Amino acid sequence: MKIAIFASGRGSNAQSIVDYFKYNEEIKVDLIVSNNASAGVLEIAKKEGISSLVMNKTVMEDDQYVLSALESIDIIVLAGYMRKIPAYLIQAFKDRIINIHPALLPKFGGKGMYGMNVHVAVKEQGEKESGITIHLVDEVYDNGAYLFQAKVALDTEDTAEEIASKVLALEHFHYPRAIESYISSLK
Ligand code: GRF
Repeated sequence: MKIAIFASGRGSNAQSIVDYFKYNEEIKVDLIVSNNASAGVLEIAKKEGISSLVMNKTVMEDDQYVLSALESIDIIVLAGYMRKIPAYLIQAFKDRIINIHPALLPKFGGKGMYGMNVHVAVKEQGEKESGITIHLVDEVYDNGAYLFQAKVALDTEDTAEEIASKVLALEHFHYPRAIESYISSLK
């Protein structure tokens, strides 16, 4: 099974996924895609010897090109990918695009809820816990079927940054494992 990781930023989740599957005979990260030519995740691709492609907005509108670039890919994993996935890609990869959201959906999800915005909102609401939601991607933001959720307790004095790091630790541990169990469920 070949995975393409889509990421827009530094790629710490991409790194943990690459590390997890490094010696896996069945599953491998075959491609890393970013919308951002200066994304740190592209450095990870280079360091790890993984093919990478920059697909900006214009490129993503060329469905022929994108679908041929992803021809050998079985699963698309979004790991901090900040663009909407076009409908043609969702149709071509039905139930085979996975995303991670750094909160316990359905709360703190939807448009504009990404990165630190999520943790600031969790903090402002005085939540006692936060966590991650790993879900399938469909046409509506943060709306696809949930595959996995994990929680972490928050202390009242936790800053939004401390919440973010507690949640990121869950992401790094659980995302690769959730991907692996989803892939096994497809067989
Ligand atoms: C993570 O917080 C993830 O939940 C969100 O975007 C961030 C990606 O971080 N979708 P990184 O680029 O993987 O470090």
